[in-house]
Amino acid sequence: MWLNFDLFPDSASTLSGRVDQLYFFVMGVTAFFSLLIAGLIVTFFLRYRRRHGNLFGSAIHGSIPLEITWSVIPLGISLFIFVWGAQVFFALSRPPADATEFFAVGKQWMWKFQHPEGHREINELHVPIGLPIKLTMTSEDVIHSFFVPAFRVKADVLPGRYTTVWFEATRPGRYHLFCAEYCGAEHSLMGGWVVVMEPNEYEIWLAGAGTGQTLTASGEEIFTQRACNTCHRLETQARGPSLNGIFGRRVALKDGRMVLADESYLRESILNPAAKVVAGYDPVMPTFQGQLSEEEVLSLLHYLKSLAPAAGDSALPAGARPARTMRDRGAS
Ligand code: CUA
Repeated sequence: MWLNFDLFPDSASTLSGRVDQLYFFVMGVTAFFSLLIAGLIVTFFLRYRRRHGNLFGSAIHGSIPLEITWSVIPLGISLFIFVWGAQVFFALSRPPADATEFFAVGKQWMWKFQHPEGHREINELHVPIGLPIKLTMTSEDVIHSFFVPAFRVKADVLPGRYTTVWFEATRPGRYHLFCAEYCGAEHSLMGGWVVVMEPNEYEIWLAGAGTGQTLTASGEEIFTQRACNTCHRLETQARGPSLNGIFGRRVALKDGRMVLADESYLRESILNPAAKVVAGYDPVMPTFQGQLSEEEVLSLLHYLKSLAPAAGDSALPAGARPARTMRDRGAS
C-alpha cells in the first residue's frame, strides 16, 4: 500500500505487513482520541463561554456510570492492543522450526555475514525470497544493533552473547541495513545492504560467488586443528564428554545443576571451559579465549549442531559420523 510513499520504509518480509497493521491501528486510535479531545475542548470552549459577567457554572459531584465508562473503554482498547502486540512480538521473536541459520558478527565498524554454504560477505547479505532465515548474531567488540527497516527487524548485537532475528523476504530488491546502536566514531557508516533475490538467481549468485567450505566443514577442520577430537571422543575413558547430539540436550554438571546445551552454553564451554564442568569429568580443558575469532566459534557451533546423536549414543566410531549440512537439517 505504501510502496511508492517514501514516508514509510519498504515492506519486504512476511511479517512487515503485520507490524504495519498494528502500527497504523495504534496511530489511528491515538489520532481519533487526540482529535476528539481537541475538538471537544474547542467546542465546549465556544459553547459554554461566559456570556454575561454574572454567569457561574454549577459544580458536578461525580457520576459513577460515567467514570466506569471512561475506565472500561480505554482498558478494553489497551488490552486489545496488548494482545495484538504480543502476537506480533511472538511471531517476530520465534523463528520457524525449519528456518535456515545464517550468522552475523558485528565489529567496529562493519557487519560480517556467513552463509550456511560457507560464503562470507561484508556489509552485504544476499538472501533468496521465500526462505525463512534465522540470523544468529554476536559482536566482536561493543554493542551494535542489527536493523533492517524493510523487514521490520531490529535486535541488539552483544559481545559474549548470541541474539537472533528472523525474517522471510518477500520482494526482490536492495534494502538498507543499519547499525542502530551508537558504537563509536563510525557508527553512522556501519551499514550495508540486504540483497533479496529470486531463488534461482540466488543459486546462480551462490555458485558464482566461489563459496568456500561449508560452515560445518570449516568447523570440523577447526575441531581437528585445535585437537578437540583428542579428548571429545566416544570412549568411556575419554577425557572430555562425547559431543554427539550435544546441541539442545540437557547436560548434568559436576555441581549438580542441569543446563541446556544451547549456543551460549557451547560458546562459554569453548571460551571458558571451567565455568560449567560436565558431571564425571575433570576441568582439564584449556581455554580458547582470545584464540578463536567469533567467526571460528560460530563455525564450531555449526559443526557441533550438525553432529547427530549417535544411535544408542555410541554406535558410530568418531570420524564416521554423518556431517549434516543446514540443508539436510531443513529437509529432515
Ligand atoms: Cu555498530 Cu553502531
